[in-house]
Amino acid sequence: MPLVAMRQLLDEAAKGGYGVGAFNVNNMEQIQAIMEAARETQSPVVIQASRGARAYSQDRFLYHLMIAATEVYPEIPVVLHLDHGNSPATCKSAIDMGFTSVMMDGSLMEDGKTPSSYEHNVAVTREVVAAAHAKGVTVEAEIGCLGGIEDGHGAGGSGMEHLTDPAQAEQFVKDTNCDALAIAIGTSHGAYKFTKKPDGSVLKMDVLIEIHKRLPKTHLVMHGSSSVPKDLQDIINQYGGKLKQTWGVPIEEIQLGIRNGVRKINVDTDNRLAITGAIRKVFMETPEKFDPRDYLKPAREAMKKVVMQRMVEFGQAGHAKDFTPIPLAEMAAMYKKELATA
Ligand code: G3H
Ligand code: 13P
Ligand code: ZN
Repeated sequence: MPLVAMRQLLDEAAKGGYGVGAFNVNNMEQIQAIMEAARETQSPVVIQASRGARAYSQDRFLYHLMIAATEVYPEIPVVLHLDHGNSPATCKSAIDMGFTSVMMDGSLMEDGKTPSSYEHNVAVTREVVAAAHAKGVTVEAEIGCLGGIEDGHGAGGSGMEHLTDPAQAEQFVKDTNCDALAIAIGTSHGAYKFTKKPDGSVLKMDVLIEIHKRLPKTHLVMHGSSSVPKDLQDIINQYGGKLKQTWGVPIEEIQLGIRNGVRKINVDTDNRLAITGAIRKVFMETPEKFDPRDYLKPAREAMKKVVMQRMVEFGQAGHAKDFTPIPLAEMAAMYKKELATA
């Protein structure tokens, strides 16, 4: 089947009361790991690429790898999503390239670091919604800013500095007509999210629940949702790595989110940890090896294992065949009709 619009996957997830993992990729092995996990668990799935990933893999390679994924796994509904688009131009170039969903993260300025004004966020998001919906492409927006990531996309800090204001979130959805909304509830990108198992003082599930009460029909997105499991940290350190002990977002909190409107859950770090641990193990245990397949295969397997586990925990497992994909042209017609009757 062709690449699917994210809106359809999230609408289906809302009907079924489950969440869908959105996994970041940079290369072929990561795409294969996710598709194998999706086949084994029969899951619909979102594959996402950041600006950094697009630059690393080069758009055309990424696009054709994703087309290969749809050919090799024709039974799996898969979305190609732009993660943290920093400007309308970035989002439009992704749409032109064949992404079926884009995130316009107008919570930050174009530098991907400086928190923006509400007006800036609304203006850039509206511009992207108009361009994307005309082509049937889904739009995720963000209100409030996540913490973390110094060199990639993110406001820095602990994640508590720019929590989403529920009243503003409600207004923002009215002002922009986005399909999905990323919110800031204390999480941050990367491995160092929390210094101990998070409680309600640092992971604001109460804010999420309040947003869901105000926006019961909006698909909410949790970024920075890696759980950073201790066993993955330990493997890296056992084989010569240097990670300080850290805590991520507990699965039970994500599941609470899913019961309260969360439909898309972003996971990158857990897969990075799994890959790195597996590669370090091969390097340490068999230093004589130099065929990249000797370490990329176990790395791919390790990522697949994490992704499969998340697919089961988020509830998307078993739902790959629930629906027939809607062509993008039909999605565009649906948006046009929605606008006319609004
Ligand atoms: O937004 C954060 C994701 O983990 C992507 O990270 O910008 O290093 O590709 P990246
Ligand atoms: P993690 O760093 O927690 O995996 O978050 C990834 C993310 O939110 C990508 O947008
Ligand atoms: Zn993110």
